[in-house]
Order: sequence, then C-alpha cells, then structure tokens
Amino acid sequence: MLIMDRYAVIGHPVSHSKSPEIHALFAKQTMQTIEYDRLFAPLDGFEATVAQLMAENGKGANITVPFKEEAFQLSYVLTERAKAAGAVNTLSFKQNKIMGDNTDGVGLMRDIIQNMQTPVLGSRVLLLGAGGAARGVLQPLLEQRPEKVVIANRSFGKAIELANEFSAQQRVSAVSFAELNEAFDIVINATSAGLTNEMPAIPLAVFNVHTFALDMVYADELTPFLRFAAQKTAKLRDGFGMLVEQAAESFFVWRGIFPDTQQVFAVLRP
Ligand code: ATR
Repeated sequence: MLIMDRYAVIGHPVSHSKSPEIHALFAKQTMQTIEYDRLFAPLDGFEATVAQLMAENGKGANITVPFKEEAFQLSYVLTERAKAAGAVNTLSFKQNKIMGDNTDGVGLMRDIIQNMQTPVLGSRVLLLGAGGAARGVLQPLLEQRPEKVVIANRSFGKAIELANEFSAQQRVSAVSFAELNEAFDIVINATSAGLTNEMPAIPLAVFNVHTFALDMVYADELTPFLRFAAQKTAKLRDGFGMLVEQAAESFFVWRGIFPDTQQVFAVLRP
C-alpha cells in the first residue's frame, strides 16, 4: 500500500484555514501525491502535535497563529529568512530533524510586485503594526530597496524597538499614529486589528489616489482597514494573495516544484 507524504497546517484556531484547499490544488496541478490536513493544537500542545505528525509520515507543516514563535524555538535548523523574521511558518521534517523556514515575507512581496504589478523599489512604505506579522515581512521588504519604510504602531515603544533592530538600514524609522501626516505609495496593515473587526487609528492623510493599500488579513468582504482606505484609493488588496503565495513557496520548499498560483486564484477567488 502506498503511504502518502503527510502535511498539515497547525494552529489554534485552525478550522477557518484555507491552506488545505490551496495545497490540494497545488498537488493536483503538479501531480504530487500528498495528504494535507488541518491540525488543531491545544495551546500547551504544539510540540506534541508536531511530534505526532512526524511519527505518522509527516514531511512538513505550515504554522499559523499563535505558534510561529514556538515553531522557531523547536527548529533544529533555521533558514536566514526565518532568523530575520524571528518566526517560522514552514516546517520540514528530514531524518527526524525539524527545519524551520519563513515564507510569509517572500509571499507578500510576490503578491505586491508580481500579482499587483506594484513596484517596491524606490517607494515610500508605511508598515502598520510592530508584532510578529510586521517583523516577519520587514527584511524581505527592505531587500526590495524601498526609498523608506516607516513603522507605526499603537504602542509607539514597540515601533521604535522594531525600527532599531533594523537601524543598520538607514531607511527604517518609527512614528506614532498621531504623527502620521504624509501620504505613502504603499500602506501595509500588519496589525491584528482586523481580526476583531477594528482598524488602527490612522489618519486618512496616509493615502492618496495612487496609494496601494494592503491588509494582511483576508475576508469575503472589505476589511475595516480597506474600507477606510477606499475613501481615497481604489488600489486595494487583502491578505488572500499573500496567503496563496506563501503557500506556493512552502510547497516549493517541500516538493521542489513551484506551483501555478494564478490557477488557485481563479478557482478559490473567481
Ligand atoms: P501578530 O503576530 O499578528 O503581529 P502580535 O504580535 O500580537 O500579533 O501583534 C499584534 C499587532 O497588532 C500589534 O502591533 C498591535 O499593536 P500594539 O503593539 O499596540 O498592541 C496591533 N493591534 C492589535 N489590535 C489593534 C488595534 N485595535 N488598533 C491598532 N493596532 C492593533
């Protein structure tokens, strides 16, 4: 009997995750025989959930809220991009060793640059939030050589801390929400405010008609942040594109084949 290579998305909660559908389409497209499930882990049971998956022919996992930092700690080897992010969203299991990677940042950059045809090179970027999601994309964002990246966060101290970590790169600075008074080319909402149907208290002045507004959160209708941005600009994007692109990069890490993401957009977001 053929034993299939197993993968899973591990989270708490995890029932809403679209990753199984996305990976099933990738597998079909590339003729890879894999099984990909959702695994709900108790808050104190992440490590045990990973161990069980490994014992049951698991070859890898995607990690979502709130386990990305724990996955980082659990990894025996870390890629450079996982080290920069301080978090892991992709685990690979090889000879009983756990490798940790992070494909979130590259996924976001591909969605902005390739799917949305929005250049980051030379652009002025506002990054909202200073938690795990913001930290995870900062290095890949800076690699695209924007003119500057301004980090703004509700707790200003955390924005300063994050900016200081990347201060070797002159282009990063921190401001408070109250100080925001100029328009940016790209505004990325990396706060978790959308999860509770809220939005960061930023002024409309950060947008003009050319601004590209991206919310890392995805939903069937416009998120509060995108509804706010829509008063000024029509260039809006939620986090679904980033989700599909990070999944494609994870699939490549595991299977060595890069799937066609456009087909997935056509099927899951017609
Ligand atoms: P994640 O891994 O999703 O980034 P996190 O590390 O808990 O989660 O960080 C959550 C981020 O969303 C923080 O930047 C947080 O701001 P604070 O540092 O001030 O707490 C931000 N956030 C959450 N809810 C928010 C809200 N209603 N308005 C503005 N920012 C919010």
